[in-house]
Amino acid sequence: MPYINGLGVYAPEKIIDNAYLEKLVETSDEWITSRTGIKRRRMAADDEITSDLACKASLAALKDCGRSVNDITHVFVSSASPDALCPVTACVLIRKLGIKGVMAFDCNAACSGFINALQLANYTAMADPNAVILVVAAEIMTRKLDWTDRTTCVLFGDGAGAVIVSRNLPQNPQGFCAEIDDILIDTDGEFSELISIHAGGSRQRYSVGDPVDRNYFISMNGREVFKQAVRSMVEAARSILERNRLSLEDISLVIPHQANDRIIQAVGDRLDVPVDKLFSNVSEYGNTSSASVTLALHDARNADLMPKGGRVLLTTFGGGFIWTAALLNIL
Ligand SMILES: CC(C)(COP(=O)(O)OP(=O)(O)OC[C@H]1O[C@@H](n2cnc3c(N)ncnc32)[C@H](O)[C@@H]1OP(=O)(O)O)[C@@H](O)C(=O)NCCC(=O)NCCS
Repeated sequence: MPYINGLGVYAPEKIIDNAYLEKLVETSDEWITSRTGIKRRRMAADDEITSDLACKASLAALKDCGRSVNDITHVFVSSASPDALCPVTACVLIRKLGIKGVMAFDCNAACSGFINALQLANYTAMADPNAVILVVAAEIMTRKLDWTDRTTCVLFGDGAGAVIVSRNLPQNPQGFCAEIDDILIDTDGEFSELISIHAGGSRQRYSVGDPVDRNYFISMNGREVFKQAVRSMVEAARSILERNRLSLEDISLVIPHQANDRIIQAVGDRLDVPVDKLFSNVSEYGNTSSASVTLALHDARNADLMPKGGRVLLTTFGGGFIWTAALLNIL
């Protein structure tokens, strides 16, 4: 099976805490903390765009595994907040990395985008023994927010993470290395309206000079999304364990999508995950959409929560709805 070989992240320097949001909308640190667990989130600088975050995370991942940009054969960028509809962020990224002639394109599976792109890389590496695939999840969600809508603007943040996938063992034994044991992806389009950015594509006609209204920003039925997120991540985690004949005892760490600490705790409770095996860093970053599990993997690794020989269970949920689970065997 292919390996993840090298992990790098980038979180913008600017920190927005809950006290700052209290000045923008009618909210409070107490409300945000008790309903979401989020204390602060990162915000990209005015001159940073998504491909800049992707580039920094990619260089960190390459450094982590001791590879050069010239080794890369494929680039898959996951983003729900790309630089633009066109040009493709992956092509802007390869220009910034100084490479050409590789297969490079964007994929959007909302908050589940990283695991979807990872599965694509997994299949690519299975088909091509020489493939060295850069998988990047990069998000500037703060530019997709209606800053007058207190029900969404307190939830999201910016960040990026990247991994290198290949069939070769790592060049740098100190770098992050994990075998991709299994990936499960499930979808249901019936609920697509519950998280949406209505305008900006073909659905809402617009012309030069039209005002930018709230349809250009995220809207969400938080309560319904909450229920579906818990149900779906629990179901995905159970299914992937069952089809691999594993139980939670075989798992050293569970990393759910970092959207809301109450969702993470509810997933943990239903699966009966011991507290010390359930990872959360949502207090520091908010929901960074598809980048969230990469930032979590990075922080979990720095906290020595992913011992060699241990198995990590990731599970994600996002707009669409699309939900996933992945099993990584840490080497
Ligand atoms: C958004 C979320 C935190 C709201 O929490 P909740 O307990 O469901 O709260 P409700 O939506 O029922 O709102 C309760 C009240 O708080 C208010 N409220 C909403 N946002 C608020 C905020 N930032 N500050 C203060 N009050 C707020 C609501 O207006 C409502 O007031 P009302 O009762 O007077 O109408 C929660 O539903 C959630 O996390 N959902 C999942 C969102 C998510 O993670 N999506 C991404 C998944 S990929």
